[in-house]
Amino acid sequence: MADSASGQTVQKDRLEALLLEERKFSPSGEFRRQANVASQAIYTRADRDPEKFWGGYARRLDWIKPYKKVLEWKAPWAKWFVGGKLNVTANCVDRHAASDRRNKAAIIWEGEPGDSRVLTFGMLEREVNRFANALKSLGVGKGDRVAIYLGMVPELAIAMLACAKIGSPHSVVFGGFSAESLRERINDAKAKILITADGAWRRGNLVPLKKNADEALEGTPTIEKVVVVERVGKTAGTTLAAGRDLLWNDLVAKASDKCSPEPMDSEDLLYILYTSGTTGKPKGVVHTTAGYLLGTSVTHHLIFDIKENDVYWCTADIGWVTGHSYIVYGPLANGTTTLMYEGSPDFPDRGRFWEIIEKYGVNILYTAPTAIRTFMRWGTEWPAKHDLSSLRLLGTVGEPINPEAWIWYHENIGRGQCPIVDTWWQTETGMILITPLPGLTKTKPGSATMPFPGIRAEVVDEKGKSVGPGAGGYLVLTRPWPAMFRTIYGDPDRYVQQYWTRYKGKYFTGDGAKMDKDGYFWLLGRVDDVMNVAGHRISTYEVESALVDHAAVAEAAVIGKSDAIKGQAIAAFVTVKEGTQPTDQLKEELKKHVASKIGAIARPEEIFFSSELPKTRSAKIMRRLLRDIAEGRLLGDTTTLADPAVVNRLKHQYEEEGKSE
Ligand code: WTA
Repeated sequence: MADSASGQTVQKDRLEALLLEERKFSPSGEFRRQANVASQAIYTRADRDPEKFWGGYARRLDWIKPYKKVLEWKAPWAKWFVGGKLNVTANCVDRHAASDRRNKAAIIWEGEPGDSRVLTFGMLEREVNRFANALKSLGVGKGDRVAIYLGMVPELAIAMLACAKIGSPHSVVFGGFSAESLRERINDAKAKILITADGAWRRGNLVPLKKNADEALEGTPTIEKVVVVERVGKTAGTTLAAGRDLLWNDLVAKASDKCSPEPMDSEDLLYILYTSGTTGKPKGVVHTTAGYLLGTSVTHHLIFDIKENDVYWCTADIGWVTGHSYIVYGPLANGTTTLMYEGSPDFPDRGRFWEIIEKYGVNILYTAPTAIRTFMRWGTEWPAKHDLSSLRLLGTVGEPINPEAWIWYHENIGRGQCPIVDTWWQTETGMILITPLPGLTKTKPGSATMPFPGIRAEVVDEKGKSVGPGAGGYLVLTRPWPAMFRTIYGDPDRYVQQYWTRYKGKYFTGDGAKMDKDGYFWLLGRVDDVMNVAGHRISTYEVESALVDHAAVAEAAVIGKSDAIKGQAIAAFVTVKEGTQPTDQLKEELKKHVASKIGAIARPEEIFFSSELPKTRSAKIMRRLLRDIAEGRLLGDTTTLADPAVVNRLKHQYEEEGKSE
């Protein structure tokens, strides 16, 4: 592990910086008095009897049939709320539409060009029912998988909820992924239907979703029909394939707005979401019905301190887990008004986020450190132009936040008054697991603080022994939690191997961490070959595979290089085939090639040609040393190399090239 660990050096740098961080921030008396959680007793209560704790919250959900048992745990296999039946959409939409919340805004949507749409719970119920019936008319039934490849439009949330209503698991594919990535995910899930749009708006440009989808569909035997949302209209210039493609609007126009919810078992599949792992293709993370709904709604309510009239905004894209859990399912289960923004933070100018907050009176903002660092660079004049006094609470997610960014966020967005919740979790965990409770926890900038009530986390060494306060190690979770993933779709062995085998019976997160003397956790980045680029998970393996797929490339090694804004940027060391000229033009071509194979998020920032790569005697490329080179550090331990001279030559060559650029 040490040899392949692209994350190892991040850890060391961050550990050193964090040891100097001693500031603490307490919630104000005013915040504390109104907070949803005001007593530490919640921790002891949950820890003493977690099943009773989670079971207590289960009463907040509408059940079609009550469950018999909160948890059945035969590590690593979990069943939560055994024997129960319920429907996620009935809980997220129907029950609110049948209550005083009928005319309350469920989704406030802001389009990038400036158009907007508000759906009340009553309206959302009708739209979801129409589309659920449309899906049924296409032959979609319980258990059939539906792939969704859309931008951030209301139809995305409507489609997910319609799938959940009829018991058809969805698999949402981020709109920034390429045709090939989409095809791979459709085929792994064996999806029957694809829902896409003619295009999407991003920074004023058109993202050609339908064009990509058409390309993907050349190799997807299971897809029977394609539903097309018209978002960009004539500008897209797309055509519909006769007999295959149908317009969303035509379908819903004919559909009834009544649809009764499919009774789902607690453990029935709710959705599959693909994420990058250490090796191999992206894996389909499986989330099920009851535990996921309960875990996301309880954490959303307590961590974001949700009140009835709050406007809550999570800026993630629904193509990632953060959007699934904290734009759609968690907030809507709680009857919260959730804001969805279609586009980029700098369109038409760099004040767009702050303008949206002022326009809708947003109370809670949940965003990513990479965005905060970008705002820092743009300067305080942008937020200063807007009235942000509606904000009561701020959150971050996706990557470690550096104390400078935390303080900037606190002062310039939170006016020094809003607590910040730095929330640690993963696609696999489904819900937030390490986080402050905003009315309770003294926060330290850069620390995600403590495990949520009922959750147990530990920092362990290679052998699985707790390392004790102050030392760095691997973050593991030692108890099951309701929203945990249940398996990898179609590959249960990988579920066991990758997550539960290294430390028997404990969940291995792939993250490095340190616990301090107060019991606070400091996340130190990935310890495996997963990069975190602007909060997006990409594996070195995927980018390497895309590079060697190019005819000119013999071998490639990819690393995440520290980057002041994105956290990590992708750097690739490439050996070209004999007879090929390593030109600047080829560099550009390779970058483009990766972007077209995976998606623009995986485009390497830097490509460096070298005739050889540092390898161990067993022929394993030592990425750790490549990171040392790319980040301009002294080389680490080279004793296991087959030929230590290679890496010294490479370092020299890298520095020379840097000088001439
Ligand atoms: C990282 C996103 C530090 C971590 C919800 C994890 C974080 C990976 C934090 C999961 C945080 C997420 N502090 N690191 N608050 N939140 N991470 O699956 O490395 O896209 O393993 O889920 O992001 O990324 P994923």
